[in-house]
Amino acid sequence: MALDKSLDAFKDVQKTKVVDASKKLRIGFIGCGWIAGSHIRSFMKQPDVEIVAGCDLIPGKAEAFFKAHGVQGVKTDYASHKEMIDDKSLELDAVTICTYNRQHAGPAIYALNNGLNVLLEKPFTVTLDEAVEVCRAEKESGKLLSIGFQPRMDANMKMIKKIVDSGALGQIYYIQTGGGRRRGIPFPFGTTFIEADTAGIGALGDIGCYSLDMVLNAIGYPKPLTVSGYKSAFFGKNPNYSEYVRSGHSDYAEKFGVDDFAAAFIRLEGGVILDFRIAWAMNLDTPGDTIIMGTKGSLRIPSTECWNGTVGGPMILYHEVCGEQTKTEIPIIHTAENLFDLKIRTFLDAIKEGGEAPVPSSQILYNQAIIDGIAKSAEAGREVEIVIPEI
Ligand SMILES: NC(=O)c1ccc[n+]([C@@H]2O[C@H](COP(=O)([O-])OP(=O)(O)OC[C@H]3O[C@@H](n4cnc5c(N)ncnc54)[C@H](O)[C@@H]3O)[C@@H](O)[C@H]2O)c1
Repeated sequence: MALDKSLDAFKDVQKTKVVDASKKLRIGFIGCGWIAGSHIRSFMKQPDVEIVAGCDLIPGKAEAFFKAHGVQGVKTDYASHKEMIDDKSLELDAVTICTYNRQHAGPAIYALNNGLNVLLEKPFTVTLDEAVEVCRAEKESGKLLSIGFQPRMDANMKMIKKIVDSGALGQIYYIQTGGGRRRGIPFPFGTTFIEADTAGIGALGDIGCYSLDMVLNAIGYPKPLTVSGYKSAFFGKNPNYSEYVRSGHSDYAEKFGVDDFAAAFIRLEGGVILDFRIAWAMNLDTPGDTIIMGTKGSLRIPSTECWNGTVGGPMILYHEVCGEQTKTEIPIIHTAENLFDLKIRTFLDAIKEGGEAPVPSSQILYNQAIIDGIAKSAEAGREVEIVIPEI
C-alpha cells in the first residue's frame, strides 16, 4: 500500500510541468460566442497569460462576455477584429479566433500579417482556397498557427497513432471513418452553425473534420488525390424536424443553408482508400465505427452516440498470433486532463519554446482539401481531382 502511494506521487511529479510565469503572453479574443467560453476558462487557468482584449461583431457582446467570466481590465471597444489588431498599445502576442466558419480565414490572415500567433478554431476554413491563403500568410509571417482540434490531445487518439506507428497493422489499404447523431443539428444559441452566410459548411466541416483527422493523423496525413462525394440536407430543411419543433424553431428550416449529411470515397497517396460518412441527423444510431484495415492487423474504433471526434469505447485489434486469428482489446485510457486545457497549453508552449504548432496547418490543409473536394464533387455529381496549390 505504502509503495502504491509513493508510486502515485512519482507519477504526479512526472506529469507536473512547471510553467515560467515571469513573462506573460498577451492574448486577444476574436469572437465571443459559445466556444469562446471554453477557451477563456482554459486561458484563465494558465499562469503565464494575460487576457488583454476581445472583440465581437455584435456590439456589447465582448464586454458582457468578459464580465460574465469575471475577467477585468480587458479592452473591448472595437467594432471589428481589424480595429483590435491595429491597436498596437495592446502589445498582443497571440489571438484566439472563435468566430463562425466564414470568419476564420479573414481574421487569421489579418492577425498573421500583423505578426501575431494564431489559435484558430476548427474547421480550418470553409474552402480550400481560403486555407491556402491562410497557410501563405503563416509562411510569410513566420508566426505560429495551430488549428483547434482538441480531440488530438486525447490519450486514446494518440494510442491509435501509436498502434499504426508500431507496424501492428502492416500496410494499411482501406479505412472507413465518420460518425453521426440521430438528432444533432447544432443551434444552441441561434443559427450561425446552419446558415450559409455564417457556417458555409454543415456536418461535413463541423464534425467531419474530426473523423478525417482521427485517421489521417494516425497514418501521417498522406496527400488526397481524388474524391467522389455526396451531401444532402433532408433533416435541416424540414420544418417538422423534431428538434426544431421541440424548441419552437421550425423557422430555422428556411434558414438552413448547409449539409446535414455527407459521404465520400477518397483515394489517398500510397494506395489507401478512405470511405467516409458523417451526419448531424439520420434515422440510424451510427453510420459505422471507424476501421483501419492493414495486411497484418485491423483496428476497430467504436463510434460515439453523439459524434464529437472522440473514441467511443475500447478499440479492438484483429490480428494473428502464431498463425491463429485472435483479437486484442485496447482499453480506454481515462485521464483527468481537460482537452481544452491541453489545446491552449500546447499552443502557448509552442509559442514560448518555438516548436511546431500542436496541430499544424500543413496537415489540416489536406483535411480541408478533402472537405472542399467532397463539396465540389457533390455539386458536380461526379468524381473530382483534388489539386492543392503550392504554399
Ligand atoms: N473545438 C470545439 O469543440 C468547437 C465546439 C463548438 C464550436 N467550435 C467552432 O468554433 C467556431 C465558433 O462557434 P460558436 O459556437 O462559438 O459560434 P457563435 O456563433 O456562438 O460565436 C461566434 C461569434 O463570433 C462573432 N464573430 C464573427 N465574426 C467575427 C469577427 N470578424 N470579429 C469579431 N467577432 C466575430 C459572432 O458575432 C459570434 O458572436 C465555429 O467555427 C465552430 O466550428 C469548435
